[in-house]
Amino acid sequence: MVRIGILGVGTVGTSVAKILEENADIIEARAGKKIVVTSGVVKNLSKDRGVSIKLSDNPLDVVDDPDIDIVVELMGGVEEPYALVKKALENGKAVVTANKALLAYHRYELQEIAGDIPLMYEASTAGGIPIIGALRNGLSANHIESIQGIMNGTCNYMLTNMINNGAKYDEILKESQELGYAEADPTFDVGGFDASHKLLILASIAYGIDAKPEDILIEGIENITGTDVDFAKEFGYEIKSLGIAKKVGNGVELRVHATMIPADSMIAKVDGVMNAVTVIGDRVGETMYYGPGAGGDATASAVIADIVDIVRGNQGPMLGYKKGLESGLTLLSKDEIVTQYYLRMEVDDKSGVLATITSALGEFGISIEAMLQKPTNAESRAQLLFTTHTCKESKMQDAMRSLSNLEVVHGEIAMMRIEK
Ligand code: HSE
Repeated sequence: MVRIGILGVGTVGTSVAKILEENADIIEARAGKKIVVTSGVVKNLSKDRGVSIKLSDNPLDVVDDPDIDIVVELMGGVEEPYALVKKALENGKAVVTANKALLAYHRYELQEIAGDIPLMYEASTAGGIPIIGALRNGLSANHIESIQGIMNGTCNYMLTNMINNGAKYDEILKESQELGYAEADPTFDVGGFDASHKLLILASIAYGIDAKPEDILIEGIENITGTDVDFAKEFGYEIKSLGIAKKVGNGVELRVHATMIPADSMIAKVDGVMNAVTVIGDRVGETMYYGPGAGGDATASAVIADIVDIVRGNQGPMLGYKKGLESGLTLLSKDEIVTQYYLRMEVDDKSGVLATITSALGEFGISIEAMLQKPTNAESRAQLLFTTHTCKESKMQDAMRSLSNLEVVHGEIAMMRIEK
């Protein structure tokens, strides 16, 4: 029998305990051994979790328990779980974690500490989708050219409902929290941080890039307006929050932001809490992985898959290699990113303004692809909406600063990147 201790018996932890009990027959058949959750750790002992396991409020009751074989870490946070996972590994226990923030900051140290002891984390990225397994195992013959995906269920649920059903931002965010999709602090979701943690994990497996969230471009979905949505619809785009990792020469672009993508692309059709990740390998070509990115049972399904792998003895090095993957590849700076852009700005509605704007963009070598003018509520003002051909991020940032200083431009200039 294999004994499991769970640090953090919340939505996912409860699902793990229930599924291991309710699907015990097939799980035992697949793992080759009986797997039982014997204890769990919670902050609040008085709250009923609906599971019949021994509960404690002291994590060491699990981490130092000689009878526990596998520690499942579902607490969230960074430094506290890091110390506990480290201790569990030092105690010789295998660990399964769903904690992407922990991995975004400490994955390389943890790989060192774990050595040959299994440390698995399928549930950390894209919930129930086996994307970690796909990258570590299924695609191991390939140089990875790019990874692009919807990696946050909350953002996708919100955007889908805002775009398709006209839902209001605050109301739909509240609904995502009630459905158990959003993080305890939902700014992690809407600000793009949650997706950035997942992107960094995937980039480590695919490229061996050791970056932290602070090193990469992260933008949220907070500033998207109905005008942007209408423009996207008119010009054949969908708006999605994407995590993007792309190899460009010897560099890797890593970025998370709201993105306009062609409405007829497969990823544009991924709605609601669903996640989808497209990976292009140099030998396999394009592959796509789709499924629920959040929710108790979906995430628990990935946690249990890791437990089964550990029991079978199926694990390899934590990140899928010991050292020396893709030597020479470095993280490209944010300024080096090259993409197409969408711009929205409010301007004076008078002759010569358009020429002023287009020549200001021209000074930075930015070429316009499409343009739309819309009336505003303010008299003698108009909204100008542009898409551009590709240019460097640094040029776009300089151009936006220059445009903001023009007398004919009023307020903030909104910008969104376009991926085709
Ligand atoms: N809050 C996350 C999401 C949960 O919405 O995708 C899974 O990491």
